[in-house]
Amino acid sequence: MKILVTGGLGFIGSNFILKILNEYDNFEVVNVDAELTGSNKENLSDIQNNQNYKFVRGNITNSRLMEDLISSCDCVVNFAAESFVDRSIIDANPFLVSNIRGAFTILDIITKQKKRMIQISTDEVFGSLSNGTATEESKLNPSNPYAATKASAELLVNSYFTTHGSDVIITRCTNNYGPRQFVEKLIPKTIILAHMNKKIPIYGKGKNVRDWMYVDDHCDGVILSLLRGKAGESYNISADNEIDNITVVKKILGIMNKTEDLMEFVEDRPGHDFRYSMNSNKISEKFGWKRNSDFEEGLEKTIQWYLDNPKILSRLSASTLKSTPWKN
Ligand SMILES: NC(=O)c1ccc[n+]([C@@H]2O[C@H](COP(=O)([O-])OP(=O)(O)OC[C@H]3O[C@@H](n4cnc5c(N)ncnc54)[C@H](O)[C@@H]3O)[C@@H](O)[C@H]2O)c1
Repeated sequence: MKILVTGGLGFIGSNFILKILNEYDNFEVVNVDAELTGSNKENLSDIQNNQNYKFVRGNITNSRLMEDLISSCDCVVNFAAESFVDRSIIDANPFLVSNIRGAFTILDIITKQKKRMIQISTDEVFGSLSNGTATEESKLNPSNPYAATKASAELLVNSYFTTHGSDVIITRCTNNYGPRQFVEKLIPKTIILAHMNKKIPIYGKGKNVRDWMYVDDHCDGVILSLLRGKAGESYNISADNEIDNITVVKKILGIMNKTEDLMEFVEDRPGHDFRYSMNSNKISEKFGWKRNSDFEEGLEKTIQWYLDNPKILSRLSASTLKSTPWKN
């Protein structure tokens, strides 16, 4: 099977490509990435000479390019997106372009070419839940511009299935962590700042809850959905590991033997969703998916990866590590 992966130089896409090529036989991967926010060529430097891998620098909104690429592949896994909520508060336009126009471009072409598309989505489309947990049937209720663009893409995907019978599947995952994540996100940012003995900003009181998933487990769920999923269906992939931000930061500091004095409470992000929650009963019952990674072990592996990859520090800019990046 030849898979077109979009956004494969980013965090989850690169881990997905490495998993497919290292753990499965008979797969070829073409990776199309525009090298925008979140991308890092180093993420896939180990496989640049792998004969089953090809990189194409390009934008998923370029329909000519995408027509050619999709016609040479069996299916598309669409990871490409602007993915940082804080940036969507300053300027949502790139999110509309990549996350909606980009998804639409792919959707239209796979429909004409009768190929399968997996749309990678997020628990954020369900918005903040003070209690209870979302299922595949729950209502979309996004509250920040990033989540709204991801929900829009989902609506387009569903409309194409209903109208054209397109071979489309949506997977939604909770917050991922692991190697190769862009340094702006909570866990890598905390690791790097702690390593540098710098203050670690905690938004508000640090009580916002996320369900943390080791990236490998998410990738397993995507592969199962690609190979066994039914067109028109969506599959939630959740870790059942809901933890508030301050506890996450304290765990990292504990593993790194750093003092909690490094934590600094800062102004909260506007519209900061309090809690996301989904269950993954459907994918577990249908395909036997389960989370394999323990949170502490996953964190230890992630911390070690950042410490072993000091080159990542050369990618830091002052704005990357700002304490309130959602402010201009
Ligand atoms: N990170 C998470 O916790 C999480 C959780 C659930 C779902 N998701 C979804 O998973 C996907 C990947 O997230 P990530 O954390 O790896 O993101 P990331 O920001 O690390 O990587 C995104 C990649 O997409 C590329 N890209 C963006 N727009 C593009 C375009 N128009 N054309 C070509 N390439 C483009 C970027 O260059 C980058 O390499 C996203 O769709 C995101 O919404 C992420």
